[in-house]
Parts: sequence; C-alpha cells; structure tokens
Amino acid sequence: MPHVAYGGDYNPDQWPESVWEEDIRLMQEAGVNLVSLGIFAWSRLEPEAARYEFDWLDRIMDMLHQGGVRVDLATATASPPPWLSHKHPEMLPVTADGVRLWHGARQHYCPSSPVYRFAAQHLVERLAKRYAQHPALAMWHVGNEFGCHVPACYCDVSAEAFRAWLEERYGDIESLNRAWGADFWSQRYSEWGEILPPRRTPTWPNPSQQLDFMRFSSDALLECYDLEHAILKEHSPGIPVTTNFMRFFKPLDYWKWAEREDVVSDDVYQDPADPDAGMRSAMAGDLMRSLGRGRPWILMEQTSNRVNWREVNVPKAPGQMRLWSYQAVARGADGVMFFQWRQSRAGAEKFHSAMVPHGRPEHSPTWREVVKLGRELSRLDTVCGTRVSAEVAILHDWESWWALELPSKPSIRVHHVDQLESYYRHLFEANLTADFARPTDDLSAYRLVLAPSVYMVSDEGAANLAAFVEGGGTLVMSFFSGIVDEFEHIRLGGYPQPFRKMLGLEVVDWMPLADGETVKLKFADGIQSQGDLWSEVITLSGAEPLAFFAGSTLDGQPAVTSHSFGQGRAVYIGTRPDPAAMGRILRAVWTEAAIKPVLEAPAGVSAVRRSGPRNSLLFLLNHRDAHVEVPVADPGVNLVDGSEVHRGLLRLGPRGVAVIREGW
Ligand code: GLA
Repeated sequence: MPHVAYGGDYNPDQWPESVWEEDIRLMQEAGVNLVSLGIFAWSRLEPEAARYEFDWLDRIMDMLHQGGVRVDLATATASPPPWLSHKHPEMLPVTADGVRLWHGARQHYCPSSPVYRFAAQHLVERLAKRYAQHPALAMWHVGNEFGCHVPACYCDVSAEAFRAWLEERYGDIESLNRAWGADFWSQRYSEWGEILPPRRTPTWPNPSQQLDFMRFSSDALLECYDLEHAILKEHSPGIPVTTNFMRFFKPLDYWKWAEREDVVSDDVYQDPADPDAGMRSAMAGDLMRSLGRGRPWILMEQTSNRVNWREVNVPKAPGQMRLWSYQAVARGADGVMFFQWRQSRAGAEKFHSAMVPHGRPEHSPTWREVVKLGRELSRLDTVCGTRVSAEVAILHDWESWWALELPSKPSIRVHHVDQLESYYRHLFEANLTADFARPTDDLSAYRLVLAPSVYMVSDEGAANLAAFVEGGGTLVMSFFSGIVDEFEHIRLGGYPQPFRKMLGLEVVDWMPLADGETVKLKFADGIQSQGDLWSEVITLSGAEPLAFFAGSTLDGQPAVTSHSFGQGRAVYIGTRPDPAAMGRILRAVWTEAAIKPVLEAPAGVSAVRRSGPRNSLLFLLNHRDAHVEVPVADPGVNLVDGSEVHRGLLRLGPRGVAVIREGW
C-alpha cells in the first residue's frame, strides 16, 4: 500500500446490512483505508457442510471497494462452525489432562486434525477462487492469532502426528532414545507406537520430550497456516499473505513462521496500568521488524481504549492510543489497525472498545482520537517502505526460551522475557535502536550483541557468536547461557562449555538467590550496587573482573567480567544486577563500542529514525504526561501537522509526537 494502512477488524456479519452504509461513511470520516474482513465468519459463509453463502460477502466487498476501503480478507478458519465439531467431535482439541475443549467459544480445533484441515482448506479454496480478482482485495489474513487459546493438543490424533514428526526427525527409535536421554527413569521406547505427547504424568515428563513437543506443536499449527497459504498463492500469487502474531508469544517459533509471510503483522494490547507498557510495546515492535528481516510490518490489532479481558480494564489515557500507534510506526510499521471497527453488541467481547463505540460516535473522545489519528497518518505516505537500522542485536531464540522455562532447574525464577527486558529497558531509555536475532543469524551488521541467558545453543550458534567476537564485535552475556544442546542435554566440560574460551572463565557452580534475597556487588572503581535472582562461582582464565560479589560467601569473587577475544570483547554477567548497575555496565560497553543514541533526549522521550533512499524521518515520542523540550539538531518539517521544525528545542505536549522529515 502506498499509504499507511489504517483500519481494523471488520465484522459486518455481526450486524444487519442496514448498518453497513453508516460503517462506510464513518470509515471515510476516519480515513480508514484497510479492514480485516470476516475473521470469524465461517458459520455464516458455510452454514452447513459444503453449502456456501457468499452473497453477503460479495455485497460488502463491493461496498468497501466503492467506498475506497481495501480489504485484508480473512480466511475465517479460526473458529470452525458448530456443525463441523458436532459431526466430528474427534476434531476438537484435548488438554494435557485429557479434557476435550468443546465448541461454543473459538479456536476449538486440533491443529493436526485431518477433518479440520480438510474443511478449512475447502473454505479457503472457495474464498480464494471467488475473491482473488476482486479489486478491493489487498491482502489475505490467514486464521487469527494461531495458538492463542489452544497452542497444543494432546489427543490421539495429535499423538499420531507427533510420532510421525519424531520419526522424521530421528529416523530410528534408538536415536530418539538417545536424544531423550531415555535411560533416565526407565523411559526407553521399543517402538514408535509407545510414544505419547507429554500428557499429565505423576511428575515431570521427560524434558527433551517436552521440548520436542513444543517444536512439534508450533510446527503443527504452522502446517495449518502453510496449507491455507499454498491455496491463496495458487489463486492470487501477487496478493500478500499475513497472519497476526502476538508479540513475544511463547508457544510459536515466530522466526519460522515469519519466513512464510509476505508481511509480518502483530497484535499489541498494552496494559495502560503498566508503567513499562511503552517499553514493552516498543520491544514488540522491534521484534516484528526483526522477524520480517527489516521489512515494514503492520500493527494488526490494538484497542482504541479498553479491553475486556483483564480483571480490571483500565482505559488508555487521552493521547495514549495515538502515541502508541506512532510508536509502532516509528519501529517499522506501515499500518495501524484495531480490534475492531464497530464495538460488538452481543457476545463475549461487547465490553471491548472499538473504533466506533456503542454510543453516538460524535460524543466519544475515543472516536475523535480515532478520526484525528486517521487524518494524521494520511499525511505520512513518505514513511511507507522506509527502514529502521540498528547497531545492536539482542539474541532471542524461541527454542532456548522453551528449554529455559522447563521445570526442574537451579531456579525456575529465571524467565526469558524478564531477561530480555533487563537489557532492552536500557537501550529503550537511551534511544539506542536494537534488532532481535538468533544466535545462528548473520550478525555482521551489528557492533554489539546482547545475550540474555541464552540457555540452549547449538554448536553452530555458539561458533557464530565466538566468530562475531573474534572478528571485532562486542558481546554481553548473562548467566545460565550455553548450558544445554538442542536435545536439552548438558554441555559437559565446565560451564558454560561452548563459551568458556570466548569469555575467558569457567562457572564452577550456581548459587541461585531466594525470593527477595540480594547479593552485593562492588565495581572495580569502588561503586557498590546489588544483584538478585542468581549468583555463581566464577573462576577466571583470561577474563578480568569488572565487579565482584561482596559480603556473601562469594565475597571478593568475580561477578562481572570482561575478556578480549580475537579483535573483540566478551562481557559476562553472573547475576541479575539492579537496573542502575545494569545500566552502568551496558553504557560502558556501548560507549566503548562507539555506539551512539539516535538522540540525547530528555527522560521519557523516545527517538527513532526511519530512513529510505530519499528520506530521513525522526520520530519523537513523549511518553510522559507533561510537556518536554527536545533538542533537535537538524531542521525539517513535522509531518504530523505540517509545521516547520528549527534547530533548537522542540516542545512536545503530554504524550505528544512529532515525525520530522529531516532536511528541507
Ligand atoms: C485478539 C483477537 C481478537 C480479539 C482481541 C481482543 O487480539 O485476535 O479477535 O479477541 O484479542 O483483545
């Protein structure tokens, strides 16, 4: 699209047709140019097996086209109609406890079910044939939030599919026994038929089995996506295909998924009561851009105001929706969309805000903000297609996340996303843009790589990180990294075995800290701070200490170290330093690596740059509830309101934004 996409999920099937004309009129008023149409319309499109009703969809597609609104047409397969599961209850998903999940909500399908897959493919085939050439069609929206409610199924059908997946992976049963460490607790399998998904067991199921089941479950859903994707590509090869992600959603390995999408899209529901909400959604935006390998992505869903699914659904403050929308654009989005266009009258989500509220729109501040934002975004065509560049990469690997958070560890308080945030927060506050990457990715574009507790690493990933440092890069790594291989087997030979040489140290033992327990840290320059969550016994073999543990049994032993390795440097952190100490460590590292922020802005102001061959666009976002003055070095035009920006101080109101096209 040549314009920033603006709109939302549109469910005209929930409304009498008499409302549709008003919908189109209001869409025009709000500058809506794209809607995700019919996401949950399966039971209206196919009211009984193989009887299709497309007339209503034809009519609304035509109306939208005439109204100048393009369509992200859903394949409608996220909520199978009751007739299907009534006829074929074997397609319903089953939990690890053996509980079958029935129809009456949504997403009630087993991803491996041939019945579900067959029915979904038939519907998609019909839709693709009918609408491939429709002039309103801009994009296909496959399913909806895959795995959101049912990330894994443990039924007999899934068990069989799991076995087939394992057979493909391991070839013979002996290799599987080896990979699963099956001699432990007498778990040797003598034939494939004995293997089950990790259903409820008396105590921990085999961790390697659990890890493989997570891989399998992500792949099983991905196969559902692939089946639909193939049909859509056959009938409309030129139309982009997406499915909406959910930020750092643990069950799906989005690295694999994103490879199969033309456009990455994401659903972001910040909690306005969370003081870190801005930081967290910025992090999600950076992830989406990284998943798409830098390509623009789409904020597919957000709420205009309140959601309905928290215990208490705090509203967004005035200007907050607008601010967070710009934040997505700043971090690479070329589209800002909502769930949903018109607030439902019935059903489970009728108290969830929408672009058009229950009441009269003209009386609603939310609607006014929606209209204002639509008008503003229509001035940002020049943003489309521009890129965000980063000198810093944060390692984020779904498989390592899964493995790290399996039970039965030195401490189960070590959480992957917390670890990511403990790094990301400082970059966010300092306006250093970061990408996310896997340990095996090409890291040559980065000067600094951050490795927050990369618990599981492949030989290839470990070699890649070492090569990055040897070649002159700087790497910062946290405790409990490089502990297991991809089968969840300990890497023997002294922790962290694959990184010992690069880090110039050995971890002799772990000493996790109890809840609320802290450990003192003393930096080489005398400054004192503290860590929590974790401590460990480190012996040095080449690294120099930057900080020591103090006052505990570890008194005087190294806590933070630095090691020159090849042309580069590897810093290691053996605890979770408090934010002030973490900030100090990271600032020293990025200063030495000569990495500069986008802008030295006052606290609470984000600065991100998007650029293209002809454009440099500086996004300034004031997350605070007060006026701020931001020093601007280059003059330009603020595209949000067309005003000239001069070198000097630019005043931004509470939650104010500016998008400065730099240069005249
Ligand atoms: C998800 C779904 C939508 C809706 C919203 C509510 O993002 O995709 O259908 O349920 O949540 O927040």
